[in-house]
Amino acid sequence: MHPMLNIAVKAARRAGGIISRASQNLDVLTIKHKSLNDLVSEVDRTSEEAIIDVIRSAYPEHAILAEETGASGDSEYVWIIDPLDGTTNFLHGFPQYCVSIGLVHKGVPTQGVIFDPTRNDLYTASRGRGAYLNDKRLRVSRRDKLIDGLIGTGFPFRMFEYLDAYNAMLKDMMTKCAGVRRAGAAALDLAAVAAGRFDGFWEIGLSPWDMAAGVLMITESGGLVGDFEGNDKFMECGQIVAGNPKIFSQILHVLQPHLTAKMKS
Ligand code: IPD
Ligand code: CA
Ligand code: CA
Repeated sequence: MHPMLNIAVKAARRAGGIISRASQNLDVLTIKHKSLNDLVSEVDRTSEEAIIDVIRSAYPEHAILAEETGASGDSEYVWIIDPLDGTTNFLHGFPQYCVSIGLVHKGVPTQGVIFDPTRNDLYTASRGRGAYLNDKRLRVSRRDKLIDGLIGTGFPFRMFEYLDAYNAMLKDMMTKCAGVRRAGAAALDLAAVAAGRFDGFWEIGLSPWDMAAGVLMITESGGLVGDFEGNDKFMECGQIVAGNPKIFSQILHVLQPHLTAKMKS
């Protein structure tokens, strides 16, 4: 295993331990609203602290971009951290949440870990070396028709200005695929595309820490990732489409008629 991936795994497992212990006693947690529908608990913060601690001990000169504490350092290497993806699920005891850690080198995703502590599932990817779920090599699905596909999505539950466009996309998609799922943890949704469980995925309004690890997982599993125009600006604009190569273009085809001027680059 690449030494940097090894550090990411160590950090993700440590954070997963904190999250699992806290899940036994959800009633005592202190929860704050960052903004409407945006919750943060002490678990998000302690998980992030633990991850940063492990990374800093190994690579003190690297930069960090973490959801709860923001950006620090200046380096070619940037660790992008979501200490608890799916906080709302976690706080309700709905077992669909994870830790996501991605490493970007000179702007290129090179290592990624997504750890699901509820199932003890460890997803890993290294650029050029493939993606794995525990010991199993991942491949995207081979389904080639959208009408047969299971498609993941996320709702624009904070960015209500996108609701009308999103609802039109959803309505259209529901008639053109086998099923649409909103599970509530974007990093796990992306991992599900890499694992071939979802044939595709789309969401508006994601942040770099939701995507950094998952996009590498998908490309290393033979899938495609892009923004709603099929370009590679998803990290900047937060609009992401992913899928196996056949389904990817069919999803774009369904979404594109509904793009507003604001959603185009
Ligand atoms: C959220 C989850 C959710 C997605 C949101 C994210 P958080 O992350 O990934 O599935 O729809 O856009 O912000 O806040 O639980 O880390
Ligand atoms: Ca997140
Ligand atoms: Ca989070």
